[in-house]
Amino acid sequence: MVIRHQPWKRAARALRFLVPVALMLGAAACSGDSFPQSTLHPTADSGRAIDALFTQIFWWAVVVFVVVEAALVVTIVRFRARPDRPEPRHVHGNTVAEIAWTMAPAAILIFIAVPTIQTIFEIDGGAPDDALQVEVIGHQWWWEFQYADLGISTANELHVPQGRPIELVMRSADVIHSFWIPKLHGKRDVMPGRVTRLVFTPDSVGTFAGQCAEFCGESHANMRMRVVVDASTDFDAWVAQQGATVPLDSSDAQQVAGRDLFFRTCIACHQMDGVGGVLGPTLWHVAARTTIASGILPNDSASLARWIGNPKGEKPGAKMPQFPLSDDDIAALVAYLQSRR
Ligand code: CUA
Repeated sequence: MVIRHQPWKRAARALRFLVPVALMLGAAACSGDSFPQSTLHPTADSGRAIDALFTQIFWWAVVVFVVVEAALVVTIVRFRARPDRPEPRHVHGNTVAEIAWTMAPAAILIFIAVPTIQTIFEIDGGAPDDALQVEVIGHQWWWEFQYADLGISTANELHVPQGRPIELVMRSADVIHSFWIPKLHGKRDVMPGRVTRLVFTPDSVGTFAGQCAEFCGESHANMRMRVVVDASTDFDAWVAQQGATVPLDSSDAQQVAGRDLFFRTCIACHQMDGVGGVLGPTLWHVAARTTIASGILPNDSASLARWIGNPKGEKPGAKMPQFPLSDDDIAALVAYLQSRR
C-alpha cells in the first residue's frame, strides 16, 4: 500500500503549532513597564506585599511544574511501547512512595498558606493614627472622593500625598462596584449598605490608572479613575486650590453666559462653588483634572463639547440627560468649565 502525504494535513498540523505560539507572543507583548494597569510594578506597601507573595507562589509553581513534567517525560521515554518489549512490571502499594507524594504537596501547601495568611493580615490591618482618611463613593459610572478632614471633595481623580498612609472608607450609592488601582493595592468591593476599607502608603509620585473591577451595568468598562500621588508640598497646594473659590472673568461674555446657563441647568446635579446637587460629580475645579467622564476622555474643549452635547454617545447608559443645547450654549459651558481651575 502506498501512503500519500496529504499537504493540507501537514499545513493543519503546522497551524496547530503556530497559532498558540503566535497567541503567546501576542499576549507577552502586553506586558512591560509601559502597561499602566499592571500589578507587577507596585508603588505602594500593600501592592509590594501582594507582588512579593505572587513571586513566592510563582517559584513554588515552577518547582511543581519541573518535577511533574520531568517525571512524565522520563516515564514516557523509559517505558514506551516497542514491538519486542514485554509489558513493564506493575507495582502496587509502595509505602515510601505513598508517604512521599502525600507529604511533599502538603508541605508545599503549608509553604504557600503561611505567607498568604500573613500577607492578608498585613494588608488588612487597621489604619495608623496619622492616616489620611478619604471617603470613596461608587456611582454608576463615576467615583466620588470626600476628604472630610480637609473639607474638600472631588471626583474620578483621587489626589493623595506620597509617603503618608491613606485609608479609603468606601461605600456605594447604587450597585456593587470594585475599587482597583493595580499598582497600589488589590481589588476591594464597594457595596451599598456596607462599608469596606483599603489602607496603603504610596511610595512613588505619579499618576496611577485604575478601573472599576466588578460588573455594574452598561458602562462598567467606562468607570475608570486615577490616583495622583503628589509630593507633600504639591498635595498641600492642591488642597488649598480645591478649597478656594475661583473668580469669574466678567469681561469674558462667553464665560458669563456659561456661568448663567450652568446655574440654571447643570447645578441641579453638579456642585459648583459649594452649592448644587449631588447626583453627578462635583465640577468645582473641574479644569484642574486631566480627564472628564470618569477618566474616559481628555479634559480639553473638544471632548467637553462632545460629552455635554451627547453624553450617552460617549458613555452608553450615562445618567446625564442630554439637554437641547445650541452650539453657542455648549461653547459657553465649555468656556465656563475650563475656567474652573
Ligand atoms: Cu462600577 Cu463596574
